[in-house]
Amino acid sequence: MVKLTINGHAFEADPCQTVLSVAQQGGIDIPTLCHSEAIHDYGACRVCLVEVERRGRKRLVTSCLYPVEEGLKVTTDSEKVVRVRKTVMELLLARCPNSAAVREMAEKLGVTESRFKSDEEDSKDNCVLCGMCARVCAEVVGASAISLVNRGTEREVALPFYDDAGSCIACGSCAYICPTDAITLVDTASKRIISWPKGTADFALKACGRCGIHFAPVKQLEFMAAKSQLSPTEFELCPDCRRMN
Ligand code: SF4
Ligand code: FES
Repeated sequence: MVKLTINGHAFEADPCQTVLSVAQQGGIDIPTLCHSEAIHDYGACRVCLVEVERRGRKRLVTSCLYPVEEGLKVTTDSEKVVRVRKTVMELLLARCPNSAAVREMAEKLGVTESRFKSDEEDSKDNCVLCGMCARVCAEVVGASAISLVNRGTEREVALPFYDDAGSCIACGSCAYICPTDAITLVDTASKRIISWPKGTADFALKACGRCGIHFAPVKQLEFMAAKSQLSPTEFELCPDCRRMN
């Protein structure tokens, strides 16, 4: 175990923990936009900035990535942290002025408007380029159907070749994890429609072999059958009809 302090309070932590995880366990609030226990952290949003002091040197770091170490002094609410975090929030607000989640977080941090100019094209899609959708698809689902492509100002979320949803199983994990609702999922009577910032695709829903209700994407059921090595016939019924078996 290593000893550190956060806002003057003493903590003991496992050396493989991050500053964010120790703070959260200790009930110290650090705002986050791109952190989830389900996937690896990538440090994209930078809202979780804190100040660390090590051997007398202070610097700002992203707490979701920064590992704890012996003697570390962490401050989550210094004047510098608050000021830089607000600037980060202003940049996010300029990129996604129409995102309710971004606006809500900005307001919570005392930011109601941005000094930075919004790009009309970028601000349409509510995407903060956090990459959570791509990571959940690769790390949790195992489909790798979506990714962040290009660099710099051209960076964006896209399907392979921009319109090939061939690897997507329509599970909706990307829509679920997206912190800004930039990905939407709509189920109609017989199909699921998923819209990403740069594309939309339709997926057939499977009809239950007994009651006829369309209950899950055909591609997701095929994927589950292949992964589990169960017979596809195991996925013929909707959950309600399975319970009646
Ligand atoms: S679509 Fe959502 S999850 Fe994906 S990069 Fe954009 S904001 Fe993040
Ligand atoms: S939560 Fe740490 S960088 Fe986004």
